[in-house]
Amino acid sequence: MSQDRTSSSDTFTVTDNANGKSLDLPVLHGSVGPRVVDIRKFYGETGCFTYDPGFTSTGSCASKITFIDGDKGILLHRGYPIDQLAENCDFLEVAYLLLFGELPSRAEMDKFDHDITYHSMLNEQILRFYSGFRRDAHPMAVACGIVGALSAFYHDSLDFTDSFQRLVAETRLIAKMPTIIANAYKYSIGQPFNYPRNSLSYAANFLQMMFAVPCEPYEVNPVLARAMNRILILHADHEQNASTSTVRLAGSSGANPFACIAAGIASLWGPSHGGANEAVLNMLMQIGSKDRVGEFVKRAKDKEDPFRLMGFGHRVYKNYDPRAKIMQKTCHEVLDEMGRHDEPLLQIAVELERIALEDDYFVEKKLYPNVDFYSGIIFRAMGIPVSMFTALFALARTTGWVAQWMEMIADPDQKIGRPRQLYVGAPQRDYVPFDKR
Ligand code: SDX
Repeated sequence: MSQDRTSSSDTFTVTDNANGKSLDLPVLHGSVGPRVVDIRKFYGETGCFTYDPGFTSTGSCASKITFIDGDKGILLHRGYPIDQLAENCDFLEVAYLLLFGELPSRAEMDKFDHDITYHSMLNEQILRFYSGFRRDAHPMAVACGIVGALSAFYHDSLDFTDSFQRLVAETRLIAKMPTIIANAYKYSIGQPFNYPRNSLSYAANFLQMMFAVPCEPYEVNPVLARAMNRILILHADHEQNASTSTVRLAGSSGANPFACIAAGIASLWGPSHGGANEAVLNMLMQIGSKDRVGEFVKRAKDKEDPFRLMGFGHRVYKNYDPRAKIMQKTCHEVLDEMGRHDEPLLQIAVELERIALEDDYFVEKKLYPNVDFYSGIIFRAMGIPVSMFTALFALARTTGWVAQWMEMIADPDQKIGRPRQLYVGAPQRDYVPFDKR
């Protein structure tokens, strides 16, 4: 990624008023998006750190995978708009695009599909890892544990410096995540694990592993398979979000890919991030009816009240999250298919969105529904328990995490991530013995 992206005429000049010294900082130009000030030399030249907790103004890397324009509500994967990909692609076609940069030819698609399909089984020994968990363990705890444990198992694909081993690890992670996540659900309800069926698509295979039982044949509902395929695409990657940044930071130390993805799962679990889809459902059930929506919107605006509208707001989108629009459309399709178009939670969600989008507080703070606002209603209508919602997010995002990890490993500018700090603790002082305290 070290191709020169600076134009010598374009610089930022900063002046330290404490000593009158000025510094010209080069400006980097992406293919689209804001100009980027290169501050790599800032500390060396000025003796000062920059300060940006939460990285609201800081770019951590150069990337070609995903572009977001938060003001316009635009999301591109390798330049293709998310709505076109969600409408036209199979999930593995988008996975190929994220990993390798171009839409696959028919032959490339067939080979990738074959490779993923024929790596979707888990070694029987790994199935025994599940029995160490309580039946009521949160599926994200199980996913974190099982994926991390893969590094204790697949010793032939841990060396990130070996391109073949990287490819094997990438294939195993993407191929096995549906099996790992579906097994977590089966384990929680005491039902036997299902094996993948090679004749099914990635999304359909996941649904059959979730819901099939040995006692009778299971046919995947094509409407639900199409909805799941679209949901996986919508969750596949999203630039340098918290969990992807976690994967990159873990990978920057040379940690093996399974450990890096386990770290991403852990970060995604938080209710401010991937855990929001589970929190949205719990919030809608807490609201309970349309006529209580106003009460909760009032609470969300009250600084003294920790309550927030889950599924609303976004660090980058200050417009409608384009994924939320597609999710809302998918929600109506699934509820109609399941004969639940009068689903009370959807009515509460629609009323909540209507009130919030008309309310000055949300308009001024540019808080719109995000990807998590409708997904939970769809999952619930599919018969997926609330505790599994974030695990499904992790299933889809594994492809994005792997693509970003591969890009980071190949980036010549890459070095171990090691931020500095603003130290506000005690200056140096001497030890005081007990009898003098
Ligand atoms: C995901 O980064 C990604 O790309 C993430 C993601 C991905 O695909 O990887 O898109 C997936 O994580 C989506 C976000 C899911 N989280 C939620 O739905 C949880 C609810 N949302 C908020 O917690 C919040 O909006 C965040 C965490 C998403 C964003 O937080 P920011 O960018 O740090 O913004 P902020 O918390 O500083 O909020 C700005 C203001 C604040 O008010 P002031 O202090 O300026 O007065 O808006 C308020 C906040 O109090 N605010 C909300 C709110 N979200 C922000 N007030 C009420 N309800 C909310 N949901």
